[in-house]
Amino acid sequence: MKVPFLDLKTQYDSIREEIHAALNEVLESTAFAGGPFVARFEKEFADFCGCHHAIGVGSGTDALWLALLALGVGRGDEVITVPNTFIATAEAISFCGAKPVFVDIEEETYNMNPALLEAAISPRTKAIIPVHLFGQMADMDPIMEIARRHGLHVIEDACQAHGAEYKGKKAGSIGDVGCFSFYPGKNLGAYGEAGAVLTNRDDLAEKIKMLRDHGQPKKYYHDLIGWNGRMDGIQGAMLSVKLKHLLEWNEARRKNAQLYTDFLADVEGVAVPREADYGKHVYHIYAVRVHERDSLIRKLAEKDIHCGIHYPVPLHMQKAYKFLELERGSFPIAEKCAGELLSLPMFPDLTSDQIQRAATEIERLLST
Ligand SMILES: Cc1ncc(COP(=O)(O)O)c(C=O)c1O
Repeated sequence: MKVPFLDLKTQYDSIREEIHAALNEVLESTAFAGGPFVARFEKEFADFCGCHHAIGVGSGTDALWLALLALGVGRGDEVITVPNTFIATAEAISFCGAKPVFVDIEEETYNMNPALLEAAISPRTKAIIPVHLFGQMADMDPIMEIARRHGLHVIEDACQAHGAEYKGKKAGSIGDVGCFSFYPGKNLGAYGEAGAVLTNRDDLAEKIKMLRDHGQPKKYYHDLIGWNGRMDGIQGAMLSVKLKHLLEWNEARRKNAQLYTDFLADVEGVAVPREADYGKHVYHIYAVRVHERDSLIRKLAEKDIHCGIHYPVPLHMQKAYKFLELERGSFPIAEKCAGELLSLPMFPDLTSDQIQRAATEIERLLST
């Protein structure tokens, strides 16, 4: 029995008719760039997240970049984030002309450690980007408190956390803005590239809407220098269909995570993920920590059990960020986790037999 890391086809088969009807509607109306299907999804997603505005954009990377631009982050500024994230978080900072400044993570949640945040603030700091890694939110209360005290903006990178909660509030609804990716493999994934920015602030929503559409409040009248960061009509329509299933899919992920944990919690050499008391984890990724990770992933692949690594090299040790001159050892927890985290197969349609097979094989390989 094969255990793929991700299976988008089974999910597509389960919603095929709804998807084809929605696709047909877009094709018949020819509303391909922005337009009514995007506007409808924006309203639905804002309501789902309990936020006033959602602005559909081309990707999660666009969402982060446009949010930073709208907040006025630019050359000479510093933005604090974590080193164990997908590079897009830092790229967005760099593409505003600002400098990413990293703080280490908590070993329990793999998210920003609020106790280390204040020491990273300098007179140049403009914003903080906590990343809700793997589908679990960062500890937002202390982060927001420190940000408010220092007059800093908070941008939630919620690209892996659709529907995750912190003390009853949805990911993306707590900071000044929340940024989402709808890359196909996400908990809420488009059938192509797409993203969104959430905000409760009317001024920011207006500015982001303009920035994603060449700075124009009205066609061919450009008040700002903007960009083409619009969402496609087809993606808006696909996402409206899929949003209706998100709660049920997240629950399936949580059930799958619990099954893995039941099988693996007592296996020697495996540290299972922990759900923080403050929130609801939506398990975009179910990552365990193991020693000898690289040989284990190879042996599992030989058995047709396919795992991933998120992420093998922390950002401060990537060639692209060499110029920051941050040595190995600068962020010891993130570095240690980068060497040990192993992402197990995880998607809503994963069967209990597949989970049991993956877990049993891990136990067997670790004991031999
Ligand atoms: C934490 C994080 N931030 C940003 C992004 C960028 O999103 P996109 O690939 O849609 O540009 C991703 C996507 O994988 C992500 O996981």
